[in-house]
Amino acid sequence: MTSTLEIKINKIAKSRVSDYDVNNVPFGKCFSDHMFIAEYADGAWQKAYIEPYQNVPLSYATSALHYGQAIFEGMKAYKNDAGEVSLFRPIENFNRLNKSAIRMAMPEVPEEIFMGGLIELLKLDAAWVPQSETGSLYIRPFIIATDEAIGVKASETYKFIIITCPAGKYYSEPIKVLVETNYFRAVHGGVGFVKAAGNYGRSLYPTKLAQQKGYQQVIWTDSKTHQYVEESGTMNLMFVIGDTLLTPELSDTILSGITRNSVLSLAKLWGMKIEERKISIREVLTAHGNGTLKEAFGCGTAATIAQIVSIGYEGKDYDLPAVETRKFSNKVDETLRNIRKGKIKDEMNWMMKVH
Ligand code: PLP
Ligand code: COI
Repeated sequence: MTSTLEIKINKIAKSRVSDYDVNNVPFGKCFSDHMFIAEYADGAWQKAYIEPYQNVPLSYATSALHYGQAIFEGMKAYKNDAGEVSLFRPIENFNRLNKSAIRMAMPEVPEEIFMGGLIELLKLDAAWVPQSETGSLYIRPFIIATDEAIGVKASETYKFIIITCPAGKYYSEPIKVLVETNYFRAVHGGVGFVKAAGNYGRSLYPTKLAQQKGYQQVIWTDSKTHQYVEESGTMNLMFVIGDTLLTPELSDTILSGITRNSVLSLAKLWGMKIEERKISIREVLTAHGNGTLKEAFGCGTAATIAQIVSIGYEGKDYDLPAVETRKFSNKVDETLRNIRKGKIKDEMNWMMKVH
């Protein structure tokens, strides 16, 4: 799909960046100077522009607000020691956004608009990209249905928007997770494999119940039997059992994580045994019982590699080996960080330099 829309740029009069310590801000609460917007109407993307980040006037009848015709992506830009800004595997996010768009009956965004808008935005807001060891600029591209209409139908107008925010760690500490066996995140034939807004809204109540019991996150299980683990919060799940890296195989109930794919690629490169298949909670707990469960972690863009220190299941907590002993996940975490920060050779060609 090609489209060469001219991007009109309206720069902020005075940058707000000096109001913040970008290397030390809470996740997702302080937004960079500018945002990119493209508008869809009459069957085509019509207008593309960059404006100062601001609230947008929307009707309370805007269809995205009522029926959740809304999708998003999450990606990051990194700054190396020389001050150069690069994106991590942006085309994967572009492709996944359009996969989500198709499933939610929304128009796909042409690559020229996605990448063109993103690169212009990052050039303007480069000062917002943290340079600290674990810092990055979190990028949130999203599409919302904008018809002012209460009838339930696919909207005829949309906005594709990109906003960004400096980000440090999503989880400040390793996490305790609770295996959820009552509620579920996704069903076959549903939208679990895409980043539809409703997937996240529906997760909040079970997560709140888990948090009230002292866990940070839930492990979602399959909706039919609640026997097989799927994901944890906004992360794909990985285990090291014996000398094998195990992760649930992809299906239409699991988001195909770009971090997941990157972790598997590195594991393959290092000659690690990998199994992508159904994993039952019983198998994990049996491995815990016989001492072969060495590591458990979640992986995702915001969370990076989040170590799991304890798994709660049916009223009992199963504590895992100390984080310092986890050879694979510590190595993969460090390697990903070094690739992203330009500290080691990017053999996989994952980084795209912006400027
Ligand atoms: N699973 C869910 C439900 C997510 O929201 C995310 C975050 O994007 C992931 C997995 C990890 O995907 P990625 O590594 O592409 O960020
Ligand atoms: C991401 O990791 O990019 C996510 O989508 C998580 C986000 C919902 C905070």
